[in-house]
Formats: sequence, structure tokens, C-alpha cells
Amino acid sequence: MNLILLGAPGAGKGTQAEVICDKLHIPAVSTGNILRAAVKNGTEMGLKAKEFIEKGALVPDSVIIGIIKERLAEPDCANGFILDGVPRTVAQAEALEQMGITIDKVVDLEVADETIMHRLTGRRVCAACGASYHVENKPSRVEGKCDRCGGDLVARKDDQPETVKDRLKTYHELTEPLIEFYKERGKLVVVEGHESIADTSELLLKALEA
Ligand code: AP5
Ligand code: MG
Repeated sequence: MNLILLGAPGAGKGTQAEVICDKLHIPAVSTGNILRAAVKNGTEMGLKAKEFIEKGALVPDSVIIGIIKERLAEPDCANGFILDGVPRTVAQAEALEQMGITIDKVVDLEVADETIMHRLTGRRVCAACGASYHVENKPSRVEGKCDRCGGDLVARKDDQPETVKDRLKTYHELTEPLIEFYKERGKLVVVEGHESIADTSELLLKALEA
């Protein structure tokens, strides 16, 4: 199954991608994670991407299309994948089509902007392995430490309230049009994302079976 998870910043794409991965045994491909790893490793692409990420803007389509082409050609994607946070513009979606990649379903995880701010300002990620938590909704067992690897939990730089506002604006302007794009192609499934993490997973898995 080739899936796309659409949704605003903080809608829960990464959290739910992890659940689907375990259930369907297919890899999650997050351009956000790939870009953050590049920034951390100081690669040329990372240096270019950093300024866009930190101001809550989108990284240029040409960079993203290159990343995704390379990643989807890897053998673990042969039996399906979940795209988390990509495509994010109509140009990226068209590029996927031009690559001959067929998409089975596009899940739009819907969460209101008011909820997003609380989710993102409370999010903590592991500085070592990238695992994601929330101070109230998904706390780690030991405060400030990652359950998986014991690494330090930190706030993402782009989760500052002012940057979250810019990311939401970018989402509404450039990414939301994809809802119509995939509706026209008969691929869109809408999942309400306001429930708890576990209840949302249940709704999502049901929507994928339908
Ligand atoms: P990216 O990393 O993709 O960020 P994003 O889309 O802004 O989304 P987030 O990762 O912030 O949120 P999420 O939906 O994954 O939510 P999560 O599950 O963590 O991209 C970052 C940047 O990279 C972009 O701004 C851009 O610059 C660049 N970029 C990436 N891809 C690009 C592309 N294709 N084109 C151009 N530029 C690109 O959940 C959030 C929090 O809420 C967590 O703390 C979680 O525990 C909690 N939570 C989750 N679900 C629930 C729930 N149901 N109830 C309560 N709490 C919940
Ligand atoms: Mg994410």
C-alpha cells in the first residue's frame, strides 16, 4: 500500500505514521526527518535547508523532489510506504505522478489550528534518535529523557509559537490545495485528528481498511 499522510504541522502525522508502519510493515518516509538529519550532519543540502526550516517556510520543491526520488528507489519501499509531510505543494504532487508512483490512499488528518499550538509547544523530541513526545499527551517515562535511547529531550527550534504561526500560514496557502488535488483523483480519505493518539490510530486504520 502506497500512502500519503496529509495534515497541518502538528496534526499528528509522525505519531500516526509510526503506528501504521508497525501495523502494515511498511516504512515511513518523512522529508522533515530527512532534512533534520541533513542539518544535524552539516551536509550541503542541510545547510541550504536550515534557513527555510527555521523560519517556518518550505524548502524548495527541487530539493524535496530529489530527496524523494532517491528515497523511494530504496529496496525497503518496494512493497509500499507512507509519505509523511510530502508532497506539500501541487508541484511536488505532480512530480510524484511524473515519476510514475501510484498512490493508493491519501489520508487527510484534520486538526483545528487552535489545537496545533498546544501540541507543538508541548512537543519534545530526542536530540539523539528523534523520537517524539508531548509533555502532557505523550510524556516520556523519565522526565526529559528518551524512553528508547535515554537521550535528552528538547523542543524543536521551529516549534516556537511565532514560527508555528508561520508554518500554519504556509500550510493553508501551499499545502491545503492538495486536499482538492487528491479528492479529484478519488484518493482522499478524511480522518478526524482531535481524539487521543490511540483513538485517532483506530479511526485511521479503519479508514484504510474501507
Ligand atoms: P515536518 O517535520 O514534516 O513538520 P510538519 O509537517 O510541520 O509536521 P510536524 O512534524 O511538526 O507535526 P506532525 O504532524 O508530524 O505531528 P506529531 O506527530 O509530531 O517539516 C519540518 C520542516 O521541514 C517544514 O516546515 C519545512 O521547512 C521542511 N519540509 C519538510 N517536508 C517538506 C516538503 N515536502 N516540502 C518543503 N519543505 C519541507 O505530533 C505533534 C505533537 O502532538 C507531538 O508532541 C505528539 O505527541 C502530539 N500528538 C500527536 N497526536 C496527538 C493526539 N491525537 N492527541 C494529543 N496529542 C497528540
Ligand atoms: Mg512530523
